[in-house]
Amino acid sequence: MKMKKGSKKRGSNFESFNPLENKTILLGVSGGIAAYKACDIASLLRRSGASVHAVLTPNAREFITPLSLTTITRNQTHCEQYGPTADWRPEHIDLAKKCDLILIAPATADIIAKLATGICDDLLTTMVLASQAKVMIAPAMNPVMLQHPATQHNLSILENRYRYDIVAPEYGEVACGDVGLGKMAAVESIIAAVAARLLAHQTLSTKRVLVTAGGTREPIDPVRFIGNRSSGKMGIAMADSAYSRGADVTLISTVDVERAYPVIVVETAQEMQEAVEAEFDSCDALVMTAAVADFRPLAVSAQKIKKTESEDIVLELTKNPDIIDLLGRVKRKDQVIIGFAAESEALLSNAASKLKRKNLDMIVGNDISVPDIGFGSDDNAVVILSAEGTRESLPRMPKRAIADHICDLLSERFQVLEKELAH
Ligand code: CTP
Repeated sequence: MKMKKGSKKRGSNFESFNPLENKTILLGVSGGIAAYKACDIASLLRRSGASVHAVLTPNAREFITPLSLTTITRNQTHCEQYGPTADWRPEHIDLAKKCDLILIAPATADIIAKLATGICDDLLTTMVLASQAKVMIAPAMNPVMLQHPATQHNLSILENRYRYDIVAPEYGEVACGDVGLGKMAAVESIIAAVAARLLAHQTLSTKRVLVTAGGTREPIDPVRFIGNRSSGKMGIAMADSAYSRGADVTLISTVDVERAYPVIVVETAQEMQEAVEAEFDSCDALVMTAAVADFRPLAVSAQKIKKTESEDIVLELTKNPDIIDLLGRVKRKDQVIIGFAAESEALLSNAASKLKRKNLDMIVGNDISVPDIGFGSDDNAVVILSAEGTRESLPRMPKRAIADHICDLLSERFQVLEKELAH
């Protein structure tokens, strides 16, 4: 973050603080009642030093005028897709190319659907498609519209696209008087999310980070498998977080996701072992978020097992390789290994013993008996133990926030290692 020199507030000894100086933000406003808050958002962004350019959808113009936003941003507001232009290349196409971030606040169910499917029938959606910048959306709508399977599906599509960040809506009374989840996030939360996205420090820019995600599936026959409840969300959040800090990331996952970094999709523990071992030597950190099956069927039936064959069947299982344990034995001094432990009892002692037994630098433990968090959820609450004996508890928070914190600890660990190895 930079302090702008020479611009003192009148009557104050403090220099004004322009953390977003040199950042260009395209503020997209779609047509919902929360559009009036776009003025506050534009004003706060501008006062944080950003150059803000507003784009209104035709429906947004029913709620707010271009003149308000032009006055607040001190830049021309764009509305018309086919309006007259002073230059041969419309300014808004330049903007789409050069902006650091596109923030859409409020984002209605309609624009979310358009972004999920690639429809570009107005200026804003066209600019999003013409841009490679990150897109942050702040949904705002009636709670029933938000919970509608179509909206949830569209949001999950965007969530899984690397370019998109969603500033979750809040619970409260919405304009039509209904109470529920759907109120646009507070203006301050949106500004904080923008700042976090634009100012994320590139603390892992020299590092190669290997992350595993998801639960392995161990086949029984061509249709059945032994699996577990892991959704892969924590591992994907870890990979995204490391990537946003500049790391050269490879994700080895049982869940296929579209990302800007390489994603190697595997199914079984043995496939995961093979993929991790092939990459391990060249990586600086291994983050084993995956839930690896400890056992697999000894024999996989080539044909579908028929229920008519016998009354009972006995599955003989054999142990899978413990990937992290094997790599913990051969890791170099400059490498860091982070494990995860999902425990149903004795969280601290079980996590601590795995940390030691598997020669890890850090272990992230969570208590799976706590309802509504962990497997499949977007949130978790964890305790992080380190080989140096530190212990830190993170209360319930989004998995991405936990991942960001773990990446901070990883960066610190690298700094310590680099100092130690220099002596
Ligand atoms: N792990 C692994 N290979 C396995 C099993 C686990 O690499 N075959 C890794 C996981 O990715 C995780 C850590 O080991 O980072 C701890 O996983 P967990 O299943 O909690 O540990 P286990 O040693 O399998 O212990 P438990 O008996 O509790 O299952």
